[in-house]
Amino acid sequence: MKNRLFVVGAIVVVLLVAVAGLVGWGAGHYSKNTKTVGEATTAAAPVDPKVAAGAHVFVQFACVQCHGVNGQGGVSPDVPALKVAGEALTSAQLQQIINHGLGESANPTKPYMPVWGAVISKRQVDQLVAYIHAGLPSVSDATPPTVPHGQGLEVAGATLYVRDGCINCHGPNGLGGVPNPLSEDKVIPPLSGGDFRAEFNTDQKIEDVIRSGSVIGKAPIVSMPHWGGILTDYELKALVAYLKTLK
Ligand code: HEC
Ligand code: HEC
Repeated sequence: MKNRLFVVGAIVVVLLVAVAGLVGWGAGHYSKNTKTVGEATTAAAPVDPKVAAGAHVFVQFACVQCHGVNGQGGVSPDVPALKVAGEALTSAQLQQIINHGLGESANPTKPYMPVWGAVISKRQVDQLVAYIHAGLPSVSDATPPTVPHGQGLEVAGATLYVRDGCINCHGPNGLGGVPNPLSEDKVIPPLSGGDFRAEFNTDQKIEDVIRSGSVIGKAPIVSMPHWGGILTDYELKALVAYLKTLK
């Protein structure tokens, strides 16, 4: 009797130890699993936050509309791809080009690199430089808005006004007021209101200034970029239609 009790007791102890071991192993295994899941999540988005921010700024300021997706070019023969510049140029050189533009006075009848210094912050320029130096990788959700089709010129124009970055310089609803301290007007002009309508009183006049731009001075003065060869005739007409809906 005593012996049997001892054996049963021993079995219970062995079982308890085994269960404790299993629980312990399970807990370890579980926490290991949790860690693996955590690592997998980080691995799915390995982009440096500064590079990711640069990708979004690249879309917001319509760099992508002239230099192409991932800065690969192919939009216009007058606009270079940016991979080579990213490999060859220092941060200081890239900052200088973004802030002061390139080629704007050499031949204003062709697309030129706009002057951005008065419009884009130093932090945003640093993010752009980090993005260009990282080789302009694809970053999820850093994509331009889709232009609605078959919903009329005004609807398409409203999206193009954002997609092409007009909004950064001329403000929401074309209200203007973005500082351009060294220019005569001290601000980038509105694209709405009585003065604008009086000066740009035909569709053709509005379309012409968007197509050809208007160089009003050297950097750091911000001028109107030249969009001919970048935007299609349909896009130019859509922008004109949208501007005419403004107050
Ligand atoms: C309206 C079209 C347009 C837009 C928008 C534009 N660029 Fe450019 N960019 C150009 C053109 C044209 C050149 C070439 C100028 C030249 O060499 O005379 C250029 C040149 C450059 C260069 C020098 C490339 C090289 O190989 O020397 C860099 C860097 C650059 N752009 C970055 C940017 C960034 C960043 C943005 C957005 C903030 C931007 N660009 C927006 C048209 C544009
Ligand atoms: C980098 C800043 C910048 C961007 C981006 C920009 N513009 Fe301009 N735009 C200007 C400046 C500066 C002027 C004033 C030029 C002048 O006085 O001759 C101007 C002038 C104009 C004018 C004539 C208004 C006037 O009173 O002279 C129109 C129309 C216009 N822009 C439309 C657009 C549209 C449409 C877009 C987008 C496709 C756009 N702009 C993008 C800076 C910009």
